[in-house]
Amino acid sequence: MLAALLAASAGPARSQQVELIQNVSARAGQSLNGPWQFLIDPYDAGYVDFHLNPLKDGGLGAGREPGGIGDKFELGFLPAAPTLQVPGDWNTQLPELLWYEGILWYRREFTYSAQPGHRQFLWFGAANYRAIVFLNGEKLGEHEGGFTPFQFEATGKLKPGRNVVVVRVDDSRHPDAIPPTMTDWFNYGGLTRDVRLVDVPETFVEDYFVQLEKGSQRRVSGWVRLNGPRARGKVTVRIPEAGATVEAETDANGLAHFSFDATLSLWSPDNPKLYEVVVEAGTDRVADRIGFRTISVSGSKILLNGKPLFLRGVAIHGEAPFRSGRVYSEADARTLLDWAKDLGCNYVRLAHYPHDEVMTRLADRMGLLVWSEVPVYWAVQWENQAAYAKAERMLTEMITRDKNRGSIALWSVANETPLGDARTKFLAGLAAKVRELDSTRLVTAATLPHTSGNTTTIDDPLGQYLDVLGLNEYIGWYDGGPDKIDAMSYATPYDKPLIMSEFGAETPFASHGDENTPWTEEYQANVYRRQVAMFNRVPFLSGTSAWILMDFRCPRRFLSGIQDYYNRKGLLSDRGQKKQAFYVLRDYYLEKAGK
Ligand code: GCU
Repeated sequence: MLAALLAASAGPARSQQVELIQNVSARAGQSLNGPWQFLIDPYDAGYVDFHLNPLKDGGLGAGREPGGIGDKFELGFLPAAPTLQVPGDWNTQLPELLWYEGILWYRREFTYSAQPGHRQFLWFGAANYRAIVFLNGEKLGEHEGGFTPFQFEATGKLKPGRNVVVVRVDDSRHPDAIPPTMTDWFNYGGLTRDVRLVDVPETFVEDYFVQLEKGSQRRVSGWVRLNGPRARGKVTVRIPEAGATVEAETDANGLAHFSFDATLSLWSPDNPKLYEVVVEAGTDRVADRIGFRTISVSGSKILLNGKPLFLRGVAIHGEAPFRSGRVYSEADARTLLDWAKDLGCNYVRLAHYPHDEVMTRLADRMGLLVWSEVPVYWAVQWENQAAYAKAERMLTEMITRDKNRGSIALWSVANETPLGDARTKFLAGLAAKVRELDSTRLVTAATLPHTSGNTTTIDDPLGQYLDVLGLNEYIGWYDGGPDKIDAMSYATPYDKPLIMSEFGAETPFASHGDENTPWTEEYQANVYRRQVAMFNRVPFLSGTSAWILMDFRCPRRFLSGIQDYYNRKGLLSDRGQKKQAFYVLRDYYLEKAGK
């Protein structure tokens, strides 16, 4: 039994954390996935009266049967209300909902027999973009942010027998939101990920962080946080296969730190080794599967387990292959990550928002390093404190959920944001928050190129706050033709690794012509051939992620018969058909891998 040693690194105080149960899928309870009744509500008439004052009883949120004459008797879900599948965006479930943006109400009934002395939480994998949750007519709370989990305690509010949960989801876009109104992806709305009723003991293991201490390949360090009346007590962390067990005492806030030595087979793309980790406290026990590895930088190199590694990657949207809509299933994730592996990747950039947890857990198992990102994208309101608070909360929710995923190497705080003091201050704040929550991973952002003639200088002031610089460049597509690529050179004042976080060109699958005719596979392949040749001329380049694995739905792509509201920069079509450029990049990646 190794004595627990108080680790130097301070775990998060309760105030810094969000209330999120770690590793929910390992918890008891019941799934609330399946058909939910729905009502479209573009005028918000289910929540406000005709003077726009909130309806006293929560309106449709009351989940009640319509009342008698004179008692707002038109307001309610009747059995005839249609249903939508949860999880799932509403846009791709009914043709009349494809372009709908606004408010949509969900309702379902469920029975639950609560265990005496246990606690229950209503947990949502994500709801895009704002959600208000009601249980048996009582408002439990609100959440803003379309890509991270949230929960509300339901203990004592569940009835034996029939319960009614109602959720008002609003996916309308706003300039002060994160992301703001303009993005280059489709605004899929709704309860887009799993919904669960989680059941835990009165005092339970709410959260834990178990990773290798920064800079060590054998010192496991972390913390456990208990929630409940007996939050002060003993916790045990075990890695049975490594023969490691450690005990620690929690403080008054339920927080205990620990660190111990263990001989571990280090996780890597070639060896995606996961260990069962068991956390116990009182009557509670939760098990997880965690990979242990180190990730660091040395000059312009990225080091995995102390050795330089070139990140051979591709960017991926949370767009479901074949059926379109938001990814929410293991099958969706498996298809996308199998394609990435087939491409020769050891890394994926999960753009531009935290993906469903099925993606990061599968990346753990398949051996793909992950760049995970918050949707601080393009024209954010940099001077708006409320916008900053939203971004910081989303970052905290992303890191709280995924901090034990060994596959995640990089936390990204932004994509393609315009230079400016307010913007750099905003993003420097987010970078500092990352380090406060997780000192073990690298901080990055995808920046815009500063190109003059044939030279791009990577000198964004944001770079001083990052460990790794990301650069999105479209030489040969948005900037000059394919031949311009051959003349390009890159410079930087930073002694830091560069990841070419986006590059590419666009074509429908099976569109053919000569290699200098845009919107053909030949042109896209020509751009890729010249891009990979250029990469070999950038000495501080430590990784690339092509934009993008698969064509994806996008309202900004107007060309009829070519784009049809899809961004066609995919190396595969949305039907999984490989374009010529797929093979160009795969050859480059196989060569980089020495295969
Ligand atoms: C940008 C942006 C992507 C976008 C891409 C494109 O770099 O980061 O979100 O889809 O360019 O224009 O295709």
